[in-house]
Amino acid sequence: MTIFRRDVMLVGAGTVVLGAALAAGIAMLGAYNVAADSPHTLIVRDLIGYVRERSVEVRAASIFVPPLGDPRMIAAGASHYEAMCTGCHLAPGMEENEMRPGMNPKPPVLASLGRGNPREQFWIIKHGIKMTGMPAWGVTHTDGEIWNIVAFLQKMPSLSPRQYRVLTASAADHHPHKDHDMDHMDMSH
Ligand code: HEC
Repeated sequence: MTIFRRDVMLVGAGTVVLGAALAAGIAMLGAYNVAADSPHTLIVRDLIGYVRERSVEVRAASIFVPPLGDPRMIAAGASHYEAMCTGCHLAPGMEENEMRPGMNPKPPVLASLGRGNPREQFWIIKHGIKMTGMPAWGVTHTDGEIWNIVAFLQKMPSLSPRQYRVLTASAADHHPHKDHDMDHMDMSH
């Protein structure tokens, strides 16, 4: 190891120790505001963003993606999405609701994010994301059901509001547990 590299590492380690001491001090004083209506400081926001991004990338990297083009998968996924996800993520043609603006982080409108990486979507839907409100659906759903949702997510950005309505209406007819609509939150009013 060159002297230069060692110096860089020492400075790095020192910064980490100081940073940890500072963070502990801030925590003990109750100085960091955990209120959802107070935005994160930029450094905390960037740090959390980076940790989340890497955490998901690393864990999703080895996931095998099955074929996602089957219309039956997409229809089943649409029905789950409509029942379980729209309160937080909306869907084509859906208006803003009264919950999302108060959430921190605010759930992204998935239809306008583009198709996204199916591997990472599967991982996030199955395991959720700590301290964000994004639930781990794998606790109550099979991998197959989650892949159906991913198949639908790949389709959603290209759907018009009308196509979305038609798809969810027809899917609901042959979806084994339509009661989902009742169990899950209904945030529209
Ligand atoms: C209670 C609110 C809530 C519900 C319900 C919910 N999510 Fe989320 N979801 C979130 C939040 C908040 C985030 C953003 C997390 C973050 O910023 O780290 C998120 C993130 C995501 C992401 C990652 C988006 C990106 O940045 O690329 C995906 C994919 C996702 N959710 C899919 C779903 C699906 C599919 C469902 C239904 C099965 C669902 N979510 C239900 C709150 C929710």
